[in-house]
Amino acid sequence: MSDLDEWRERLRSAATRQADYERSTIDLIASDNAVPGWRAHTAPYLGDMIQEGIAGKRPFAGAAIHDELELLAGEVARGVFGVGHAILQSHSCSQANQAVYHALLRPGDRVLALRFRAGGHLTHGMRANFSGRAYNFEFYGVDASGVIDYDALREHAHRFEPKLLIGGSSSYPWRYDTARLRAIADEVGARLLLDLSHEAGLIAGGAFPCDLADADVVTMSLDKTLRGPHGAAILCRADLAGVIDSAVHPGTQSSFPLRRITDATAALLETRTAAFAEYAERCVTLARGLAEHFRRIDPDAVVGGSDKHYLLLDTERAFGHDGHAAELLLERCGVLSNRQSLPGGASDRLKDAGGLRIGTAWLSSCGYDEHDTGVLAEVVADALRGADVDKCARVVRDLTGRVRPLDVRRATEPDWTPRFATTS
Ligand SMILES: Cc1ncc(COP(=O)(O)O)c(C=O)c1O
Repeated sequence: MSDLDEWRERLRSAATRQADYERSTIDLIASDNAVPGWRAHTAPYLGDMIQEGIAGKRPFAGAAIHDELELLAGEVARGVFGVGHAILQSHSCSQANQAVYHALLRPGDRVLALRFRAGGHLTHGMRANFSGRAYNFEFYGVDASGVIDYDALREHAHRFEPKLLIGGSSSYPWRYDTARLRAIADEVGARLLLDLSHEAGLIAGGAFPCDLADADVVTMSLDKTLRGPHGAAILCRADLAGVIDSAVHPGTQSSFPLRRITDATAALLETRTAAFAEYAERCVTLARGLAEHFRRIDPDAVVGGSDKHYLLLDTERAFGHDGHAAELLLERCGVLSNRQSLPGGASDRLKDAGGLRIGTAWLSSCGYDEHDTGVLAEVVADALRGADVDKCARVVRDLTGRVRPLDVRRATEPDWTPRFATTS
């Protein structure tokens, strides 16, 4: 066998096994979702071209329709989120955050963000991340009930005088008091960035109240709950459009694939449908239902509750396994989750994670209901209590078989019935 044949065979084999694996597992990783297959047919000829720069100022020829498509994407994003300006070129939300810092800060400037173990993200100042090296971060936390301690945050902001205050999180299960964050930012003369990477789809679908007008800038993933292609949008007030756009290009990146712009536009259009609103609402209902189930199984199992598409399990306290051990136990049964540092934990390091983050976006997209999640909570608890792995895996296989999770990936168009009555 030549190298070429062998590599082709290994590629085919691993990709096929991965597809089978995805078909036979339950995906509770909160950043994952099942992306509808119909979108692959929105713009069949856009696979090959990339573009750079801002509409009307491209460095490549043949950009007229590119401009039209990108301007449309911006228009739709502004309409969906009610903001002054939107750019959808970032390759990921990490890169969107990088661009926002580049736009609003100089190296060494002070930034105040949510502590990692209380739900913050690594691009919010973790030492190992570019953000923690380039800027001077300090962190605010949560009170004993797990809710952001806004009084302590205010005091901290007055002492530290950050140039940028960051709201938003990876694993904070509650709503944000954006009006309070805005007021604190104003008191100390800081800009406010809301990183809504996770919540974007819930906000667009009307399931997570959050006033974007309180922020100077918002970053959000196009994937995750928004269910679009991998990438990110930066939204801002109209007066910041120039500084944000030039921080994206040429500030922090050059090209972007046009395909992502059209896929993202299609995903944003879908958020206007009644079906998407139901999906978004179901994300929250399922997370709350799961929290109830786990609380009934063990009153110590859930950290607080949930206003969004995930909940936090304190597996150490309830089941005697740290987050990594719990993650591995569930993986053996066909349930995918991720270890999570918890607010009460002693450190931010993931190797000390005391629990799991349990997401519901994939479950909601695949059509699982509250009865299914009840079964799921029981089997997760059984697995964490040391029940027979084969027996647990059979329950999981039964769940994945019954709900036909990949139906969402069929290439049929969605039901375009709008969520709001349209006016003529
Ligand atoms: C709050 C937050 N911001 C930014 C990111 C980075 O997103 P990406 O992984 O697309 O770079 C994440 C990722 O999960 C996140 O949770």
